[in-house]
Amino acid sequence: MKRIAIFASGNGSNAENMINYFRDSGLGWTVALVLSDRPEAKVIQRAVRLDVPYAVVSKTELGDSDIMIGLMERYSVDAIVLAGFLRMIPGFLIERYPGRIVNIHPSLLPKYGGKGMYGRHVHEAVVAAKESETGITIHLVDEHCDGGRIIFQARTAVAPDDTAAEVEEKIHELERLHFPCVTAAFLSGL
Ligand code: GRF
Repeated sequence: MKRIAIFASGNGSNAENMINYFRDSGLGWTVALVLSDRPEAKVIQRAVRLDVPYAVVSKTELGDSDIMIGLMERYSVDAIVLAGFLRMIPGFLIERYPGRIVNIHPSLLPKYGGKGMYGRHVHEAVVAAKESETGITIHLVDEHCDGGRIIFQARTAVAPDDTAAEVEEKIHELERLHFPCVTAAFLSGL
């Protein structure tokens, strides 16, 4: 079995879908660790309920290569999936996992990416700009914020009267449909 660490800062619906998907898939990958930078994040409760080990790291610990590489080695992590993780990934992790860190972003990158563009802020910006469509981007992580190679995008229409909350709903549906299977297809090619 090859092993995934999911990094998440918040609710963790994508993390939960991913855990369940790999658990049932027989694809030879499993989620071995959930890592969060927020002890109160709901993703921790999900990890406990789903019986997946978890770790919480502070901002300082995230930037400490001995701590982070030690943690990845302790759980024999082969690849990292970011699912709503709000901190930048330190360079030493990108070097340790080249082409093996996948992120999901809730817009059609390069639109609505970069600093400050996360969660509801993205959907508010999409609505404010009267976009007729938005979507999700699954991409590799490099040292640039929302910058690495794009693996997959899926689109959805935005109606003129859609609120940011309604757009967010549509995006979560796209994420639910695509994130686990696109990630699985990518990882099985490694
Ligand atoms: C998702 O929309 C994801 O694209 C973004 O943050 C959100 C996380 O949602 N990066 P959840 O925590 O997985 O429910």
